[in-house]
Amino acid sequence: MEERDDASARTTARATAPARTAARTTVPSGIPSLDVRDVTVRFAGLTALDAVSFTVRPGTVHALIGPNGAGKSTCFNVLSGVCRPAAGSVRLGEHELTGLPPHRIAGLGVARIFQNLALPPHASVEDCLLLGRHRLTRAGFLAAGLRLPSAAREDRRHRERVREIAAFVGLERQLDKPAGSLPYGQQKLAELARALCMEPRVLLLDEPVAGMTADERRRTAAVVAGVRDSLGISIVLVEHDMGVVMRLADAVTVLDFGRRIADGAPTDVQNDPAVVRAYLGGQAGPEETAS
Ligand SMILES: Nc1ncnc2c1ncn2[C@@H]1O[C@H](COP(=O)(O)OP(=O)(O)O)[C@@H](O)[C@H]1O
Ligand SMILES: [Mg+2]
Repeated sequence: MEERDDASARTTARATAPARTAARTTVPSGIPSLDVRDVTVRFAGLTALDAVSFTVRPGTVHALIGPNGAGKSTCFNVLSGVCRPAAGSVRLGEHELTGLPPHRIAGLGVARIFQNLALPPHASVEDCLLLGRHRLTRAGFLAAGLRLPSAAREDRRHRERVREIAAFVGLERQLDKPAGSLPYGQQKLAELARALCMEPRVLLLDEPVAGMTADERRRTAAVVAGVRDSLGISIVLVEHDMGVVMRLADAVTVLDFGRRIADGAPTDVQNDPAVVRAYLGGQAGPEETAS
């Protein structure tokens, strides 16, 4: 619990500081690297991931790309504990994540945002974000139920933090509205805000701009860049929009049929012959899908 409170204080300090443009070269304190080593996942004869390795450096955006069926979602399932690999390891700093249940991995600061909307549509945006803080709630049901002063103080603290995070993603004026009444792009931002309410150290984003208008894409990309630059959180990004990947990512890992075929800086990966081949074998090349 103490650790999470420190994280909260650190995040608050960063959120109110001016955004650092040189963030890519600065290693934020307290954020460990995420090391994926030789991870293999099999589904009844199909190898969805074949000894895949990559390292997400602290405070960077690391994109995971590849044609449909390449193994990106499976990889996210491994990182979040939904899927247990047949071999390999995932380490966050000194913690081994493989074999831990999803709630323990979330407890270590790995927050995931799903591809499809997962907000309760009738709840207010504020309540949705407060749900994100549930894991950090110290007062038990009894204290809250008896309306003890400590529970009221804690509730106030959480509401303040929710307000700050809503302002960070640009939703401070939407807090009282039902989540389901917001335009699609804002609902996705509310999901991002809910994940930030968990005070994560690593954020897993599965196609955050899918289905958005060009305007919503730009805005969301700017918020994601802000999460890295101002909050110093590491981000693993699965995204089909290569324009967004090239603009945002500090490093890219390319999967094809469960194998890692390239890994490195975005521009190097984009021009890698194996990557071009993988995309041309499927649909469009990575540069052709740029928005
Ligand atoms: N639960 C599952 N059972 C069987 N096969 C699966 C399962 N999940 C994914 N797969 C298969 O594993 C491969 C990788 O899928 P996935 O990780 O969803 O790829 P991507 O997200 O890159 O499109 C695909 O061939 C897919 O059909
Ligand atoms: Mg997928």
